[in-house]
Amino acid sequence: MHTTLLTTLSLALSTSALVLPRQQSPQTISNAGGAPPNVPPPTNISSSAIADFQGVNFLENLESAFFAAGLANLTSSEWYHHDHDHDLAIQIVTKVQAQELIHVQTAENILNHFKDKTFTPCEYVFPVTTAEEFFALANIITSVGIGAVINVASSLALTDPNLVPGPASILAIEARHDAFFRAAAHVSPIPNPAPFDTRISAAYALNLAMPFIVPGSCKGGMPSFPIIPALKQTSGASPLTGSSGPITFSFDASQVKTDASSTYYIGWVNQANVVNYTPATVSNGNVASTIPNGLAGLAFAALTNQSTALDVNTLTGVTLAGPAPVQIS
Ligand SMILES: *[C@@H]1O[C@H](CO)[C@@H](O)[C@H](O)[C@H]1NC(C)=O
Ligand SMILES: *[C@@H]1O[C@H](CO)[C@@H](O)[C@H](O)[C@H]1NC(C)=O
Ligand SMILES: *[C@@H]1O[C@H](CO)[C@@H](O)[C@H](O)[C@H]1NC(C)=O
Repeated sequence: MHTTLLTTLSLALSTSALVLPRQQSPQTISNAGGAPPNVPPPTNISSSAIADFQGVNFLENLESAFFAAGLANLTSSEWYHHDHDHDLAIQIVTKVQAQELIHVQTAENILNHFKDKTFTPCEYVFPVTTAEEFFALANIITSVGIGAVINVASSLALTDPNLVPGPASILAIEARHDAFFRAAAHVSPIPNPAPFDTRISAAYALNLAMPFIVPGSCKGGMPSFPIIPALKQTSGASPLTGSSGPITFSFDASQVKTDASSTYYIGWVNQANVVNYTPATVSNGNVASTIPNGLAGLAFAALTNQSTALDVNTLTGVTLAGPAPVQIS
């Protein structure tokens, strides 16, 4: 009896050890202001929801590593200077980083519960050398994360409606992070440039994350997604382009075949609207187009050879290069 109990106990322990989530430290929970939701897990889950939470797991790993590195820099002797704004930024980024870790654990808890694959962090490089550049990239990374989580919530609403509240309440917190970074990076002191944030596809978010991931460093694997050649904005007032006016982009012409006889467009993804198309002139990896009227906040621009795809997920399948984040206002 005793032996059986012990065997059962050790079996139970080893089974649970297999699926034990990465628990966050009491310090992280305290910095974040709370732990992952303690509501019971759902009784079943769709395969698309699994893919959604795996995407969240993978992207939030990147975000938490980015903020951990930024926080180390903000507090380092190189970046640190004693003034009210800098001290406040350290306080805020400490919370941001801890909250990203809690979001990672929230996604992993669901995946572990259903014994699905989770993703360990990769190695990352972030092209920033000053606090202002860190805040500016934080604004872009946070906006990409928000766009991806809107897509997750939209997809869960169709397949797993009882799982919508988690991502929905993550969105409101990420929006507060972004409002701080917009101001700290001097993009704009206005936290609310548009009535809607912009949904992007999982493939867009993952492609936008790629430049920050050291090739071959994802020992725990990566979600599978279509690789789309990058599109880079090469003109436009910095940091804000305004709505309307000319804009140029570039892409690697060896990766994307274009020809003089075809018609090209920039597809603009912004707020909750259908994709807006402007004609594009393409030659040798250079693209000239115009910013349509009526965009605001951060838009995502994609090079394409059609103008009929109405939503971002359809546009993703016919994107030749992109998307490029374009800060309109
Ligand atoms: C969960 O199971 C119930 C009952 O079988 C079913 O109606 C529901 O669609 C399932 N939900 C998901 C997300 O698969
Ligand atoms: C931190 O600072 C180092 C050294 O300047 C830099 O290489 C790195 O990109 C910075 N990372 C972040 C996220 O600020
Ligand atoms: C658009 O580009 C794709 C990929 O290069 C190509 O297969 C397709 O035929 C093109 N469509 C048009 C209308 O040019």
